[in-house]
Amino acid sequence: MRDIDVFLTGGTGFIGRWLLSELTADGQRVAVLLRGGGNRIGELCSWIEAHGGRGDLIHGLAGDLAAPGLGLDAGDRALARTTRRVFHLGAAMSFGLAPEIAAQVNVKGSERITELAASAPHLRRLVLLSGFQHRRSGWLTANRYHDSKLDADTLVRQLAHARGVPLTTVHPGPVVGDSRTGETTQFWGWPTLVRALHRGRLPIVPGGPGHWFPLLAVDYLARFLAGAPQLDETLDGQYWLLHDATPPLHELLTAVADELGVRAPRLRVPVPLAALGLRAGLDRWTGLPAEALTFVSDDRFPTAEAHHVATALDLTEPDPIHLARTTARFLTVNGFQAAAPQRQP
Ligand SMILES: NC(=O)c1ccc[n+]([C@@H]2O[C@H](COP(=O)([O-])OP(=O)(O)OC[C@H]3O[C@@H](n4cnc5c(N)ncnc54)[C@H](OP(=O)(O)O)[C@@H]3O)[C@@H](O)[C@H]2O)c1
Repeated sequence: MRDIDVFLTGGTGFIGRWLLSELTADGQRVAVLLRGGGNRIGELCSWIEAHGGRGDLIHGLAGDLAAPGLGLDAGDRALARTTRRVFHLGAAMSFGLAPEIAAQVNVKGSERITELAASAPHLRRLVLLSGFQHRRSGWLTANRYHDSKLDADTLVRQLAHARGVPLTTVHPGPVVGDSRTGETTQFWGWPTLVRALHRGRLPIVPGGPGHWFPLLAVDYLARFLAGAPQLDETLDGQYWLLHDATPPLHELLTAVADELGVRAPRLRVPVPLAALGLRAGLDRWTGLPAEALTFVSDDRFPTAEAHHVATALDLTEPDPIHLARTTARFLTVNGFQAAAPQRQP
């Protein structure tokens, strides 16, 4: 491949797939850091083509965020350095994340990507996909993934500043399915709550009347990510991106329960008490680890700047209740696992 427009990590992941579809549909040439290298590119390109993108514009570079020099060989490193934009989405995401994986992949890997961006002579923007929450204390809902994202955010910001890397940071809320079809390739986080509800194993609502679990449609996020770094005003910007109109959790669960034809939970239990119950063994019965409650809070986020950019990009926010219903339908129809690719409208 000749020079590239974009170097991307996390291309095989949930958000990365939707972003790759957007970027390549726009004609951009993208090099993707791939664990396992070339033997995964076929499946990825087929998926992208089934979702409106162009597989012929994607080039896989064998590497690993946890490896020195990202594990890139000299030729691939030289190609990566021709990029104009770097999107850093790659991360280890799971409940119960091992400390060394969190440190090596999420924190050190982000440092390596920032160094690569600093060495790219034509770089116009590094886009970092960060977390959306503030730092939390307390062991009940402690979440190592979440903490490592905050550490990475701080490190990338400092390094980018020191090395003169033009940075844009996006803090997405919990990402759910495509607003048109509900399709997702991720089955933890919000889907864990939906699965418990569907199985009749969510008898309570964690949190009080003001607690919520903000949602964000993956296609909306992908369009925002593809468009934002093209705007001068997003240089050095930080964007908290989530659908603010998401109602409190009890209302959201009621709508999803209605969609699934199951009973909605009514009893509200404070988050620490719910987490205590899960840690005491109810996690096995519900299928919900206590860490799943990390994303339930009564915090509000500074979303005005993201709304401004979304307007400039002509993005229309989906209705969160409709999004929750559509995603729940997709999850249950597909048995909470990946479906065969479908063409997008
Ligand atoms: N999903 C959300 O709700 C959400 C919300 C806020 C922020 N984010 C952030 O958005 C980004 C993308 O999330 P996602 O939901 O798309 O995650 P995902 O589906 O779990 O995808 C993670 C991606 O990272 C790659 N990766 C993991 N370890 C790697 C390593 N050692 N070297 C190279 N690549 C590695 C994975 O590659 P493999 O295919 O090889 O595993 C995969 O492509 C992450 O940074 C996440 O923290 C996500």
